[in-house]
Amino acid sequence: MTKIGLIGCGAIGTEIATQVSEGRVGGAQLVALFDMDAAVANTLAQQLGGSVPTFTDMDEFLSAPSLEMVVECASPSAVKAHAENVLAAGKDLLVISSGALTDTKLFQRLAALAEKRGLRFIIPTGALGGIDAIRATRGLLEEVLLTTTKPPRGLMGAPGFKQWETQDIQEAKVIFDGSALEAIKLFPANVNVGATLSLAGLGPDKTRVKVVADPDSPGNVHQIYARGSFGVMRFTLENRPHDRNPKTSYLAILSVLETLREACTSGPRIGT
Ligand SMILES: NC(=O)c1ccc[n+]([C@@H]2O[C@H](COP(=O)([O-])OP(=O)(O)OC[C@H]3O[C@@H](n4cnc5c(N)ncnc54)[C@H](O)[C@@H]3O)[C@@H](O)[C@H]2O)c1
Repeated sequence: MTKIGLIGCGAIGTEIATQVSEGRVGGAQLVALFDMDAAVANTLAQQLGGSVPTFTDMDEFLSAPSLEMVVECASPSAVKAHAENVLAAGKDLLVISSGALTDTKLFQRLAALAEKRGLRFIIPTGALGGIDAIRATRGLLEEVLLTTTKPPRGLMGAPGFKQWETQDIQEAKVIFDGSALEAIKLFPANVNVGATLSLAGLGPDKTRVKVVADPDSPGNVHQIYARGSFGVMRFTLENRPHDRNPKTSYLAILSVLETLREACTSGPRIGT
């Protein structure tokens, strides 16, 4: 069994904790929960039957008996605050708030620390697809564009959407068009996918991201266009928003669960 602890007990954390506790994630076993909101962590622990300890102090969390892998599903600020401590404590690290990693210095420090300590540092595909193909063609890519379209309610609260929040958006509007690096600053909870895509391909400066608000959008829609000497790739995902947090797509949760299954179980591995 791989003993895992979660940072963040919100929409994603709750689903992961539930499925791991029900034994549906291969060899993963939940041993610790951390959230800056103690009540949220305690509520989740109670839902799970009360046997998983909760923490609001990172040193105590990292000292939880037999903890081996930390799964971050909280926020980019949680990655900035805790990721280095996790690896320094000798724990494997899985990061879903990949927007934090567009800080290339932080990304390189974490990658170097993981390599030095022989630890796994995993960034799941998240609410996206096609990352295997982007990675495989990395050296040949000339252009990568991500267009993310969400209903306006899925963009509420983002700094880049502030001026639009009071407007009655009746048709699709391009809210942002720029680099993945800028996109993640303005839409920190919306375009982690752009960050992951950029880390796999051309990098945060050279990956272009468009954010569109569309009241008729069928969900959180991500379209990838990538071009290079290998040819052209187009991927479209129409994701169902999570009931508890409409900014988050249900696919993001499924992606973390599948990544965990792969990391915590032996057996054949399909795909890049
Ligand atoms: N990579 C992807 O494709 C992808 C897709 C969806 C969501 N995400 C990201 O995953 C993260 C979690 O999403 P969610 O829908 O579960 O969010 P959520 O808001 O439902 O839950 C986040 C939880 O983390 C806690 N938290 C936030 N910052 C913290 C910190 N610094 N220290 C400790 N606890 C902290 C909050 O109290 C909350 O309980 C977000 O950063 C989101 O942007 C990534």
